[in-house]
Formats: sequence, structure tokens, C-alpha cells
Amino acid sequence: MGPFGTVFCDQFSIARFAGGSWESPAIRPLAPIPLHPAAHVLHYASSCFEGFKAYRREDGGAHIFRLQDHVERMQKSAGSLRLPVPDADMLASMVVDLVRHVADEIPPPPSSLYLRPTLIGTLENIGAAASPSTEATLFVLASPVGDYFQGGTKPLKVLVDDTRSRSTEQLGSTKTGGNYAAALGPTLDAKAKYGVAQILFCPNGDVQETGASNFLLISDDEIITKPLDSTFLHGVTRASVLQLGADLGYTIHERNISVDELLGKVSGFEAALSGTAACLTPVGALVYRDREIPVRDGGSGPNTERLRDALQDIQYGRAPDIHGWRTDVGR
Ligand SMILES: Cc1ncc(COP(=O)(O)O)c(C=O)c1O
Repeated sequence: MGPFGTVFCDQFSIARFAGGSWESPAIRPLAPIPLHPAAHVLHYASSCFEGFKAYRREDGGAHIFRLQDHVERMQKSAGSLRLPVPDADMLASMVVDLVRHVADEIPPPPSSLYLRPTLIGTLENIGAAASPSTEATLFVLASPVGDYFQGGTKPLKVLVDDTRSRSTEQLGSTKTGGNYAAALGPTLDAKAKYGVAQILFCPNGDVQETGASNFLLISDDEIITKPLDSTFLHGVTRASVLQLGADLGYTIHERNISVDELLGKVSGFEAALSGTAACLTPVGALVYRDREIPVRDGGSGPNTERLRDALQDIQYGRAPDIHGWRTDVGR
């Protein structure tokens, strides 16, 4: 199947916005799209995207996980970048139609079909730094992906950085490429220097998130995670874990966590990263000011595993869809 994100279905869905309206979306053979060198996105980073999955069930059917939530987040991202906001029904239909088209390529668990709607500003104007792109292209890619955890869920080592931000106050909850560009350099430097997998960005001691996942502290009866604000991405996996945690009887605390509190808590609490690609990944150690601090015994904690299993049972179709999170796409 190749590394995550490198293999694509040979069809994609595309729609253009021009003259104040969207043209009808079409499913086409996947091919390069023409882009004027003055396109707004190439100069002023007017782009946003989503990432979520379709899963194959044991009964042969398939579904998309939390489609509406991802459509809503994409609309929010588009609005914050002043891009044309795709209509929710149009975007949802583009995804569902594409998934139905390529349904034969949805692999069984633990693999899945990753879906990547992307919206880019295509206005041809290199003088438009301070004006919106009034033309845009929206497309949806489908990519079969394997098990993120080939070889088991090894707990990750994470650098706690209490100075840098992953993003900015105004764009933290926008899923836009520039945020990933901002996190890339520091994350590569941290990998090289400390052998960590990720940076946990904690500007001014406020525990926020890593480059591509949210952060949770978990005990036998509590889950603690940062409350929703504009500084970080509002993960759909985070929301799902909090809901399933509440269902299982955990007390949910959405409140700010300081680095001091974090370092004090990890001898007793499990720590985990949540996101579509990695689901719920245990953190086994933190690195802070050149010191390595184990999270509990450094292993994968039982509560993290329990919550991940509960989530995957719904995603893989092994448990009933009690929260209405699955959009069925037939066989
Ligand atoms: C910066 C960032 N935070 C959190 C997440 C987790 O979001 P979700 O659970 O919706 O995949 C992602 C992944 O999309 C991300 O890129």
C-alpha cells in the first residue's frame, strides 16, 4: 500500500468557484490540475483541507466516520481564510459520491480509505495579499492507507516546548497548510536533537497540541484536555474520545493544563495524542529542558488502550453507532 498518503485512487472529485458561484462537482480521472503561476494560494497560502476516513465493515458494507463534523470544520477553515465557503451538502455529496465510485478500493481494517478534501484560492493576482481569493478550486482525494501502527503501538517520546507556538492565535483552529509549515522546522530539529517523534507546543507554559494531534491526560477515572479555543485544532478524534470516555464513566475535564502541572501529573496519569491518522497513541516519555521524564512506567497505559478500542470498535463497525457518527456508503 506504500507509506501513508502516497497511493491514490485513480478518480477524484473537483468543483470550481468563479463568478460568485460553484460549478457542479465532477468525478474525473486523477490528473494534475492547471494552476496559473499568479494563483493566490501559491503566494498568500489561501488553502485549507480536511482528513478523515472511510472504513470497510465485516458485513462487507462501508461507512465514512463523522463526515458532517469534518465538513463543518472545513467550512470554518474556509471562512477564516476568506475563501469561498463550500456548501455543506455539496461538499458532503462530493465525498460520498467519490467514495461510492471507488468503493472497491476501501480496504478492510486495520487499513482504511483516507479522504482529503482540499480548497485552494486560484485568483490570478499577485497584488492580493490583503484581499481574498474570489476564485477557488475544491477537490477531494481518496487514498488507501495501511495500519498506522504496523508493529504495534509503541509509546512515543515527545518534546515539551514551552516557548514556541504551533500556529497563531487567529489560525490555530484553521486546518491550513501554513500551520504545518510553521511546525515542520522545529519538529525536524527536535527529532534530530532529542530523537522525539513530535513537539508538544506549550507557548508560555500552556499545553496546546503537537504538529498533527491533540493531547490528553488520562487516569482510571478522569480525562483532562485543553478546552476549545482559537489556538489549536479542534480534533474530531478528541471530541470522539471525550464522548466515549463520558459514556464509559470517566469524568471529563476540559481545562487548561500548564507545563508544571503536566510534569507533575505524568508519574500517575497516562498521556496520549489523538488524531485521525494515529487514533489514540500513547506517549511514553516527555523531554523537557534536556531531561527525559517517563510517563508512568513508559509503557502503553490500560485506559488509553480501552478508549482506543472503544473508538476503533465504532470506526471498524464492530460496535453499534450509538452517536450517529457513521455515514453509510453501501457496498
Ligand atoms: C494540528 C492538528 N491537531 C489535531 C489533529 C487531530 O484532528 P482529528 O482528530 O480531527 O484528525 C490534527 C489532525 O488532523 C492536526 O493536524
